Amino acid sequence: MKEIILSGMRPTGKLHIGHLIGVINNWKILQEKYNCFFFIADFHALTTEYNNIKEIKDYVYEMVLDWLSCGIDPQKSTIFCQSDVYQHCELHLIFSMLTPLGWLYSCPTYKEQLKEQSSKDLKTYGFLGYPVLQAADILLYKSTKVPVGKDQIPHVELTREIARRFNSLYSEIFPEPIPLLTEFPYLPGIDGRKMSKSYNNCIFLSDDPKTIKNKVAKMFTDPKKIHKTDPGDPTNCVVYAFQKIFSQNYKEIEILCKTGKLGCVEDKNNLTKVLETVLIPIQEKRKSYDKNNVKQILVSGKNTATTVAQETISQVKKLIGLGIQ
Ligand code: TRP
Repeated sequence: MKEIILSGMRPTGKLHIGHLIGVINNWKILQEKYNCFFFIADFHALTTEYNNIKEIKDYVYEMVLDWLSCGIDPQKSTIFCQSDVYQHCELHLIFSMLTPLGWLYSCPTYKEQLKEQSSKDLKTYGFLGYPVLQAADILLYKSTKVPVGKDQIPHVELTREIARRFNSLYSEIFPEPIPLLTEFPYLPGIDGRKMSKSYNNCIFLSDDPKTIKNKVAKMFTDPKKIHKTDPGDPTNCVVYAFQKIFSQNYKEIEILCKTGKLGCVEDKNNLTKVLETVLIPIQEKRKSYDKNNVKQILVSGKNTATTVAQETISQVKKLIGLGIQ
């Protein structure tokens, strides 16, 4: 039996190239070795976007399309939408009974997000319970490894604590999952800050060649390098940060820049070509799916996920003595 891996993303936007190197490429490797469940966390999106729901529906679809076009393979992985598998709600409810409020109030992401998203009213029951829902996602499939970014570690920690508490109260049925940290080189946005939708500095997987060219042209470079012949400092250059990840000859580029033999314009033209070779195949693959294919994939994912999820819920309800026995 293969180990079970589960991970999810909130449908809050189109995927950008940072997601590709940070998350999706890793999922692609994992799906070869593990029994992977990848899902769209639309309930989680609702915890912060309950007041702004108009885009959730489109982003669910766009995100699955992004995954498929990057090579997440529905023959190998189970791809589904959280709200299609109601057992997530059942387990969330049961976990909410045994999760002390103190654990949730002291979760670092809770405090951070309240501050960071201060324009939204996040003083809700649902938002406080965000990590409880995440624990339900993970434990419903008895997943042992959870590929996540650093920011999600507190949630996996809480998942372990909830698993431990459940196991000690009723019976040892849940594994204590560990985070699989995806180490990847830092990829800034075009302005040099973290690549993020809210900074409007992303290169999206769906950007066409013209858009890519325009965005690369705007990339922040060493302000002291004005002429081609000026020696540049690649450590202070977004183009170089990208070359380092996407170009095999980045060492050569570094020397040419430092010695004033490569100008920023030429460097940017080269990077544009490199990014096209990364993104065009993804975009070509995207064209081979339509809304119906995506829907079919989600239905089949829902069925597979439900089978596993229902087994866990039956086991849990039996242990506690809930419902018709
Ligand atoms: N909280 C995660 C994020 O924002 C998304 C998520 C929800 C998730 N449930 C999960 C990730 C379960 C891993 C496992 O990125």
